[in-house]
Amino acid sequence: MSHDEVFLRNSWYVAAWAHELIDGKMVARTILEQPIVIYRGESGKVVALDDRCCHRAAPLSMGRIEGDDLRCMYHGMKFEPSGKCIQIPGQEMIPPKLGVRSYPAVERYGLVFIWTGDIEKADPALIVDYPPLADAKWRGLPGYMHYKANWLLIVDNLSDFAHLAFVHTNTLGGSEEYAYTTKPVAVERLDDGFRVERWHMNAEPPPYHKKVIRNKTDHVDRRNIGRMLVPGIFLLDTMFAPAGKGAEKGVAVEGTRQYRNAQFMTPETRSSTHFFWNYLHDFDIDDPNITLSLRHSLEEGFMEDKAIIEAQQKVFDADPNYELLAIRADAPLSHFRWALKGRMEAERNARAAA
Ligand code: FES
Ligand SMILES: [Fe+2]
Repeated sequence: MSHDEVFLRNSWYVAAWAHELIDGKMVARTILEQPIVIYRGESGKVVALDDRCCHRAAPLSMGRIEGDDLRCMYHGMKFEPSGKCIQIPGQEMIPPKLGVRSYPAVERYGLVFIWTGDIEKADPALIVDYPPLADAKWRGLPGYMHYKANWLLIVDNLSDFAHLAFVHTNTLGGSEEYAYTTKPVAVERLDDGFRVERWHMNAEPPPYHKKVIRNKTDHVDRRNIGRMLVPGIFLLDTMFAPAGKGAEKGVAVEGTRQYRNAQFMTPETRSSTHFFWNYLHDFDIDDPNITLSLRHSLEEGFMEDKAIIEAQQKVFDADPNYELLAIRADAPLSHFRWALKGRMEAERNARAAA
């Protein structure tokens, strides 16, 4: 299978956190099975180039940033942000087509997005809109994890709130009851994914939330609204309202605390994934202990997922044709696969027609 058949190419993918590029650091990262080097030029511009010199394939990430350009430190060829070679030490004539691939790169929300498809289709307006990431009323800490698993296994995991109860009983979930007594209010099928809303009424606060509040035993009405979007973006709006005050009817209940969570799954290869995330809170935002506690709790929760997801990948590696049987709770993830497949097919057809 060529990678064109595995990945959606015409899409923005998160390639790095902007903070990874401070102090002139270069990030060498494989994305969609392509080695890429990402750096910030002197003008502040973020550049993403193929991490292979077109001359003798030395990694450009071993090179030197000069202004906004990058010099290969093997034989000294210099490349501008467009990827075009602009200097060959000892050779005057530079063939106009000589260079490396450049990826359109856009910095937003403290994240670096790159476009892996046809350059003329790279429209920054297609980058997902998630205002909490840019709003000072929310506080969080950027996170990164590496998974030895196909990104769709992570998508599956996040698509399914039922696993909160069993995998995360002592961290994010709270009780096995969550699996039995909550039902998605509605699974809304979107062109590019799905949206699901789930309420859990009059429950004890789950452990991660308890750790950062004082009224630890007061029951809460918990609402999760999750959106999973192509190619692998999960956005989760969580609300904990004091129980029984009508939050489910849209009443703004005093003492409500909220979280906003964004997670970006970027395929490294077909069996490994870069996972960028931030978990934001809207209360006590000036108390760093709370931000840190949430960061640790979420990481602890993700590690529980990682163990299962990476073990699943091993099962698929051993037997790629193993057949799965769906249950009703799988409807959202089936829809997501269908939406992604549609996009990939359209892309393939457009390429075949061209
Ligand atoms: S390998 Fe880069 S200049 Fe020779
Ligand atoms: Fe999980």
